[in-house]
Amino acid sequence: MRGYVELFNLGKTYDTPKGPQVIVEKFDLNIEKGEFIALLGHSGCGKSTVLTMLAGLNSISQGGIVVAGREIQGPGPDRGVVFQAPCLLPWMTAYDNVALGVDRVFPHASKAERRATVEYFMELVGLSSSMHKLPKELSLGMQQRVGLARAFAVQPKMLLLDEPFGMLDSLTRMELQEVLADILQKDGKTALMVTHDVDEALFLADRVVMMTNGPRAKVGKIIHVPFERPRERARVLAHESYYDLREQMIEFLEEQEKLKHQAA
Ligand SMILES: Nc1ncnc2c1ncn2[C@@H]1O[C@H](COP(=O)(O)OP(=O)(O)O)[C@@H](O)[C@H]1O
Ligand SMILES: [Mg+2]
Repeated sequence: MRGYVELFNLGKTYDTPKGPQVIVEKFDLNIEKGEFIALLGHSGCGKSTVLTMLAGLNSISQGGIVVAGREIQGPGPDRGVVFQAPCLLPWMTAYDNVALGVDRVFPHASKAERRATVEYFMELVGLSSSMHKLPKELSLGMQQRVGLARAFAVQPKMLLLDEPFGMLDSLTRMELQEVLADILQKDGKTALMVTHDVDEALFLADRVVMMTNGPRAKVGKIIHVPFERPRERARVLAHESYYDLREQMIEFLEEQEKLKHQAA
């Protein structure tokens, strides 16, 4: 099977003072166009390693990655990345932080077109009335909304999100999950999101990909999430298979945890 995004036989070996360490090995995954993948696994198993290789920010030791028919060589505007910390330029307004990428990726668009793009995405993330504030005048949740707008506004083929809501309190996290679900609904995108929140994964993903524990981590179990879209949290939670799927995920993670202790 070929996918829009293909990770084939992907491996990562880090050089460490103790010698080379194989962190990820034989990681295979095909992602369809428009599909949302949640990547789940214990802390330290290699989730960020996979995501940063896909982002082109981390060298690939083995295998390869193809995005839309092209093997990736380093980072590119076809893949937008959102990390846990918003990483905005502190001296620039929210608007300018988003405009920076838009100006760089669409240098031939007219000024009006670029402005319309920035404003459209600011509105999508619910920031219309705070566009001209500086990051320090915004809450962490608002800053991460800017981070989402910045990633979407350059119109990448794919979104890569590494625990984007991990620093937020649970109410803000749920709000931002809804913002993200909403943008994806309007601006269908292929996405891979690392999370360790099983409920977040079930709310957002089409498939939940769970990694085995490292070293030599790979895809352990994949769960298809059958909830229809657009998703409404109450309906998702009330779905007849919600708790069964949740249970399967927790069971997998617990098994991995046990294996870790046996190995130790
Ligand atoms: N640059 C690096 N050099 C050496 N080891 C690393 C490096 N980056 C990550 N690791 C190790 O690789 C493993 C996986 O890390 P990471 O991908 O960040 O895990 P996760 O995101 O699942 O928590 C960890 O044991 C981590 O210590
Ligand atoms: Mg990580």
